[in-house]
Amino acid sequence: MFSDAVATFQPPVCNEVSVRARENVRTATSTADIEITGLSKTFDNSRRVLQDIHFSIPQGQAVALIGHNGSGKSTLLRCCLRLIQPSSGSIVLLGKEIIGLGKAELRDMRAQVGFVFQRHNLVQRLSVLTNVLHGVQARKKGLRTWFQSMAMQEDREEAMAKLQSVGLAHLAGQRVDQLSGGESQRVAIARALMQRPKMVLADEPVASLDPRAGDEVMNLFLRRIKDEGLTLLFVSHNLDHALSYADRIIGLRDGKFELDAPAKSENIESLRELYG
Ligand SMILES: Nc1ncnc2c1ncn2[C@@H]1O[C@H](COP(=O)(O)OP(=O)(O)O)[C@@H](O)[C@H]1O
Ligand SMILES: [Mg+2]
Repeated sequence: MFSDAVATFQPPVCNEVSVRARENVRTATSTADIEITGLSKTFDNSRRVLQDIHFSIPQGQAVALIGHNGSGKSTLLRCCLRLIQPSSGSIVLLGKEIIGLGKAELRDMRAQVGFVFQRHNLVQRLSVLTNVLHGVQARKKGLRTWFQSMAMQEDREEAMAKLQSVGLAHLAGQRVDQLSGGESQRVAIARALMQRPKMVLADEPVASLDPRAGDEVMNLFLRRIKDEGLTLLFVSHNLDHALSYADRIIGLRDGKFELDAPAKSENIESLRELYG
């Protein structure tokens, strides 16, 4: 599901983190799916966008990442997959340090992580079913994963099941450019699930939808995540979504880690003062 730009991404050499990566730190004693330590990011020697971030997310937890515009949420999420190369720090995903991984290892690691963007990046002129089937490319290669008409029957059936699980089986043959925004985002979710990911990262997955469609898609998204027992880190600028759908909320302010609390214990009014 990653674009060509990502596939050809060449991270700059970064000695501080490469040394750590060569040690290939493994968290044998930890059940955290994401473990971030001392993560910092500075773009082009300007101000620090992320400063010394630490947190971990245990397997199966759904975490909302909140913060004002420009606070570094997208940068943090992209660093988690090394779509952006951190300036320093450690990122252990699924027990493996990803800083300094080679191209092939990084690709294998990314294949285990579903990524849902605000803009869904579907192939507009192809059918819904073919787009979902593309999720299989994370774990299988070959031309037969490109079009549903050429797909292995087992893959086509699995893609149909994923579509069914997001309530869109009836639109399998439709071109994506004929879908509503909410339907498109459901297809993107089905495609991410088709990867059989171990965890999912989502950057404002419903920000482009109207409030009602946004609620529907978040509801469905979290149900699928919980049904499949996946770990989730999602960025949201919608506090109600963070409080309703996350197990835990973490907050950034000006690139610094500022809040870490169970979603149920938070008072929405005090959060609104900080992040509303
Ligand atoms: N590629 C980049 N080059 C330089 N600055 C960037 C780049 N990407 C993001 N930034 C800056 O980093 C800060 C955090 O951006 P971002 O992570 O997108 O914030 P958020 O997702 O919380 O709105 C912003 O000031 C933004 O302008
Ligand atoms: Mg953002």
